[in-house]
Amino acid sequence: MIHKCLFPVAGYGTRFLPATKSMPKEMLPIVNKPLVQYGVEEAIEAGMTTCAMVTGRGKRSIADHFDISYELEHQISGTGKEVYLDSIRNVLDKGIFTMVRQREMKGLGHAILTGEALIGSDPFGVVLSDDLCLNDGPGVLAQMAELYRQFRCSIVAIQEVPPEEVNKYGVIAGESLKDGLYRVDKMVEKPDPKDAPSNLAIIGRYILTPDIFDILRETPPGANGEVQLTDALQTQAQQGCVMAYRFQGRRFDCGSVPGFVEATNFVYENHYRRD
Ligand code: G1P
Repeated sequence: MIHKCLFPVAGYGTRFLPATKSMPKEMLPIVNKPLVQYGVEEAIEAGMTTCAMVTGRGKRSIADHFDISYELEHQISGTGKEVYLDSIRNVLDKGIFTMVRQREMKGLGHAILTGEALIGSDPFGVVLSDDLCLNDGPGVLAQMAELYRQFRCSIVAIQEVPPEEVNKYGVIAGESLKDGLYRVDKMVEKPDPKDAPSNLAIIGRYILTPDIFDILRETPPGANGEVQLTDALQTQAQQGCVMAYRFQGRRFDCGSVPGFVEATNFVYENHYRRD
């Protein structure tokens, strides 16, 4: 039902300098797989096989990663090393990759609006690959796609965070419909903990209905002087319906060094195939 997923991957990754000086932060590996590939695999699992990347200067290695490396294929074809290409070959077999460049960094909302040309007028998923989400059962986007079938409106993934950390996130408040599912009536981007409407923080997984583009066009810059997706979603919640979903699974904040290290240890212990 939802076939496209948008990946805003134009950010600078300053917290990982100097590693990210000439290398996109989305290409940093969690063990042996770049962060962005985890997100792409999650989207493909949810049936979102067109992966639309909003890239920027210095991000060409992302486009190269989602293409055949002719030399590499030639070198290792027929050898015992082919197995190392299994996961990316699988992604390339199933996925279609489209790219557009965001010329100026004006916030997540602006990045999403830049992706409009790749998305068109259908509902779509969004993955912020800094947030690595792992689940033994269906992935977070697959869980959200299932909910979309029921509610046909925008959905944000949420997680409870310690109250003193709400200023790192978009925060929601709303009516609880059933355990873990809310109809949103308020959303604030990076609130001061004393003004936060709850400790339910938005995590980097969204399903958006395409009217979000017109709303974003009219959304003035908000927190940090940037066009915020959260502000546009707040308008959407007031005009119609936005749901918030507390997902099944674990989320690692790979935009921070401690979260990145935690994810690395977790994947190494639980998912890495040693040979
Ligand atoms: C973005 C969103 C924020 C959300 C967060 C999740 O913020 O603006 O609403 O809670 O991602 O990771 P950023 O982390 O880009 O500052």
